[in-house]
Amino acid sequence: MITPRAAAHAERLPAGELPAYLYDLAALDEHAERVRAALPPDVELYYAAKANPAPEILRALAPHVSGYEVSSGGELAHVRRAVPGLPLAFGGPGKTEDELRFALDLGVERLHVESENELRMLARLAAGRPGAAPPVDVLLRVNLPVGDGDLGGAALAMGGRPSPFGLDPRRAEACVPLLGSGLRLRGVHAHLASGLDAPAQLALAARITAWAREFGDRHGLGAMEVNVGGGMAVDYARPHTRFDWAGYGQGLGTLRERHPDVTLRIEPGRSMTVHAGWYVTEVLDVKHSHGEAFAVLRGGTHHMRTPAAKGHDHPFTVLPVQDWDRPWPRPAALDEPVTLTGQLCTPKDTLAARVPVAELRVGDRVAFSMAGAYAWNISHHAFLMHPAPSFHFLS
Ligand SMILES: Cc1ncc(COP(=O)(O)O)c(C=O)c1O
Repeated sequence: MITPRAAAHAERLPAGELPAYLYDLAALDEHAERVRAALPPDVELYYAAKANPAPEILRALAPHVSGYEVSSGGELAHVRRAVPGLPLAFGGPGKTEDELRFALDLGVERLHVESENELRMLARLAAGRPGAAPPVDVLLRVNLPVGDGDLGGAALAMGGRPSPFGLDPRRAEACVPLLGSGLRLRGVHAHLASGLDAPAQLALAARITAWAREFGDRHGLGAMEVNVGGGMAVDYARPHTRFDWAGYGQGLGTLRERHPDVTLRIEPGRSMTVHAGWYVTEVLDVKHSHGEAFAVLRGGTHHMRTPAAKGHDHPFTVLPVQDWDRPWPRPAALDEPVTLTGQLCTPKDTLAARVPVAELRVGDRVAFSMAGAYAWNISHHAFLMHPAPSFHFLS
């Protein structure tokens, strides 16, 4: 599962540039265009920058998105710099007073409030601004209870049960009187889980929207915004499959018809960029230990923590290299399961375990696919002081 453009680049790369992250920006552009086209035109698509905040990625997505979701003051400053002029929604738990002040100074377009404490801080900061300042537009992040089965397929649940994210429905009601004149309640935000397929996402979106509409009616909100979050499933065990954007878009269209005075917004991250990136490296050593084959790769989970974080075998393609100029037999695994590890001194530095390969030799290259999201940026780069990878943005 590697695009011809990325494969050609991976094979040509000088050895000194390995490991390397390759991003196929043309493939990303095509994918984002397809996602946008599958959604009803008035459904707003925000990209969750935490999935991959590389400026090249943010800029490649710019023609296809309505804005970006950011979850820290750092992301806020970074994304504003990389794609100036596009709307930002600032969410995330534990916002500091300094971050909130910074968001107000930058004129952030939407603020997702996670708690009453945060709302009180924000209301005080907003009230302290000069009289001419426009009100700050906020959405309350809610943690709605959902049935046992609703998040059954989720890889990661952020809500629907006790969690540090968002407000319980009763607490959301209690927030309304705290808004004050400096804040304007625009609607409701919810991100309850990551890793749900289209039918599960649609069921959740319907639930969130119905609750939000009742909440809005109770508080005389009129037209309102409902951000139903991200979390569209990607399947690392089946890298050729994609989230069903067409089915999802159709379902959102129906939901939109049921609630004509609601602006629907989504904020996917992983499903936007994951397929546009590869982590490419080379095999440094192959050995057999107590009957099992191990390939030790240059780099490892300090560059791509994804398989360790999610507990999966990361999909990869072997790119054979024929040259072998050492005067001893080339170590190899032949027609057998191999465990691909990195250079760290921990058994947790495993990228894929006991995966059958036809042939894997010292000096061969390996391209891990699905490395375009939550890969380099979630990894523990400093551990063991190995060099950083190189980065290549292909267009
Ligand atoms: C509030 C919020 N929105 C959106 C996302 C993006 O989720 P995903 O990358 O699974 O689409 C996350 C991920 O954690 C999140 O916390």
